[in-house]
Amino acid sequence: MSHRYIAAIDQGTTSSRCIVFDEAGSIVSVAQKEHRQIFPKPGWVEHDAEEIWANVLDVVHGALQKMSITVHDLAAVGITNQRETTVLWDAETGVPVHNAIVWQDTRTDQLVRELAADGGQDRFRAKCGLPLATYFAGPKIRWLLDNVPGVRERAERGEVLFGTMDTWLIWKLTGRHVTDVTNASRTMLMDLATLDWDDELLAAMGVPRAMLPEIRSSAEVYGHATGTLAGLPVASALGDQQAALFGQTCYAPGEGKCTYGTGSFLLLNTGEQPVQSANGLLTTVGYKIGDQPATYALEGAIAVTGSLVQWFRDNMGLIASAPEIETLARTVEDNGGCYFVPAFAGLFAPHWRGDARGVIAGLTGYITKGHLARAVLEATAWQTREVVDAMNADSGVELTTLRVDGGMTANNLLMQFLSDVLDVPVVRPIIAETTCLGAAYAAGLAVGFWPNTDALRENWHRAAEWLPSMEAGVRERGYRKWQKAVQRTMDWID
Ligand code: G3P
Repeated sequence: MSHRYIAAIDQGTTSSRCIVFDEAGSIVSVAQKEHRQIFPKPGWVEHDAEEIWANVLDVVHGALQKMSITVHDLAAVGITNQRETTVLWDAETGVPVHNAIVWQDTRTDQLVRELAADGGQDRFRAKCGLPLATYFAGPKIRWLLDNVPGVRERAERGEVLFGTMDTWLIWKLTGRHVTDVTNASRTMLMDLATLDWDDELLAAMGVPRAMLPEIRSSAEVYGHATGTLAGLPVASALGDQQAALFGQTCYAPGEGKCTYGTGSFLLLNTGEQPVQSANGLLTTVGYKIGDQPATYALEGAIAVTGSLVQWFRDNMGLIASAPEIETLARTVEDNGGCYFVPAFAGLFAPHWRGDARGVIAGLTGYITKGHLARAVLEATAWQTREVVDAMNADSGVELTTLRVDGGMTANNLLMQFLSDVLDVPVVRPIIAETTCLGAAYAAGLAVGFWPNTDALRENWHRAAEWLPSMEAGVRERGYRKWQKAVQRTMDWID
């Protein structure tokens, strides 16, 4: 039997995808399916975990069928996923006790403030690398335990299980209750030094250990699939941003990337020691390959970038499809003085303000929908500038090139503006699907499909590059205006 391919499942915020790769890291087949975004109240976002599971099975079978590939052609499947999104389910029946609470959801704002009242927002940072924020899984678990009748008692007896999307999918595929170090590092419950759940953090957050999965490396065989994929080794799990870091082959300290999707996430490899941030970044696990030591990363997480374009399309109806935003933005020469700060889920890095809400600043009668389209795109670049500044300050080294990937990198106007406001070259590899690629690489290493990371580096090839061309004065004036607009989003919630 020849194992010619590796499959990767990317369970993302808006859709699930399966991509099949060959040994050169080239894409052989793709299938994708969107799932519902459920908004029960302002600031609340939920997903139906059963719908997601059904979609994942569909896309795996879809990708295989398209190219007449069978399960036996696959050496393994790897998983990558939207991080922090929290699902609790009945250990016996497998039925979720509530919709999954999505990473963007801000319902835990009050709880987070109460926790921060005793010791401040950075109370747990030394241990878990994260500030107290609605973003992370721990407060979401606590909300479910406090608000879904009977669940706390059952969770204490191990009858209700917790998982992020990696865990939910591995459990559905293999029956094993496990997670990987990268996903666990987004819960606020894991100690970055021991890579194990921490009793002090569990007690503070009020989460029983009995409901938590076992923490494993990012690349090892967790189990074999049953059902229609019977026998297939499930051999990697990484949060999607860490998977993109791995897929971009950022294996040396100082190498980093930014992925432009629903949100945008800049990760910098910091090597085998976690580096604490003094500038509002997150310390997180980058990856851990089998028995090798963990590699850590600094992360600048931006909540709303691609989803602002979606909002512009779906809620405002100003464009019919996402790529049209570039055409509309090109109808004008600049933003006309208009700045759009999309603090829809509060502000993430480097501000961490759950109480911020979005603003459009600088409106005059002159502003057209073209200027608004520009302001929407520019928001992504300015937010990246904020996290790059924080990254430079934390690491003490100036970023010299930004590696990018993700859907928004197809937008040339944005990529040029990004290079202009960062004043560094921006480069994109041929395979821009680095999230799936990273999961495939990790799974492939686990089963010997690829020998080592050097072999993976050889697959990275530059496809596009944008060079800075903006005058320094223009750039810095624009940045000051952006910062003023950001200031106006703060303290919006009473
Ligand atoms: O932390 C949230 C992140 O993992 C979501 O990524 O690409 O699904 O928006 P994405």
